[in-house]
Amino acid sequence: MTSLLKSIRRDIDFIFERDPAARSYLEVLLCYPGLHALWFHRINHWLWTHNLRLLARWLSQWARLFTAIEIHPGAQIGRRLFIDHGMGVVIGETSIVGDDVTMYQGVTLGGTGKEKGKRHPTIGNDVIIGSGAKVLGNITVGNNCRVGAGSVVLRSIPDNSTIVGVPGHIVLRNGKRVVITDPKEISDPMSDVFIRLATEVHQIREQLEKHTAARLTPEPNLTIDQEWDTYSDGGGI
Ligand SMILES: CC(C)(COP(=O)(O)OP(=O)(O)OC[C@H]1O[C@@H](n2cnc3c(N)ncnc32)[C@H](O)[C@@H]1OP(=O)(O)O)[C@@H](O)C(=O)NCCC(=O)NCCS
Repeated sequence: MTSLLKSIRRDIDFIFERDPAARSYLEVLLCYPGLHALWFHRINHWLWTHNLRLLARWLSQWARLFTAIEIHPGAQIGRRLFIDHGMGVVIGETSIVGDDVTMYQGVTLGGTGKEKGKRHPTIGNDVIIGSGAKVLGNITVGNNCRVGAGSVVLRSIPDNSTIVGVPGHIVLRNGKRVVITDPKEISDPMSDVFIRLATEVHQIREQLEKHTAARLTPEPNLTIDQEWDTYSDGGGI
């Protein structure tokens, strides 16, 4: 019982540490859905690990109803997770989250849909994951990393890195700016589509120009009438 109260106290203190908007214990107790979701999860995870899996899942759905945060009961969550605002956060079954992690609304720790078994990310200690960021697949985000709002992280990230963009790439490591030398690092699926489209348009234009030039070149030894027939048969007029 004492350890439970201590852990509740730790969770609340962590919110004070991370959120300048938090004013009083009562306010934190009443107004932070991330905290409620975390407490629900601790019960649900206990049920999950004691083979009461259906009950655990059912209660996690109730927790989602109340908090708008979906944490699968199988997920392993470390100490002092702070989910700020919370709306739309999803943490998948095989996710592992370290200690002192902060995540904002709309974060997904999800699978790519292609893997089985351990298919969700492992998040290190002291990590901040910005609003709307998606961390997908069985990858590792190292200790003390920061994931930019709206990023999509698809590869493992070493300790002390800041990752931004879609797909996510490292912009800062150990406090120093990372210069991207590999163009693949900054390519995104939309630019690939544009490159393909531009290539196709270029090829079609070349073919059209050849075709038009061939049509407009008069064939030798034809009378004017024959030439005219050839031209109008080919849709020249
Ligand atoms: C990623 C983040 C932690 C970086 O903070 P930082 O260490 O101070 O880094 P900087 O702001 O110097 O940014 C470094 C580079 O990344 C870019 N960048 C920062 N955040 C970005 C993002 N979310 N998406 C794309 N690029 C981003 C910056 O433009 C800068 O690039 P530049 O040097 O070419 O101009 C921060 O920008 C962020 O996204 N925090 C999440 C906060 C959040 O979700 N708040 C929600 C509150 S409700």
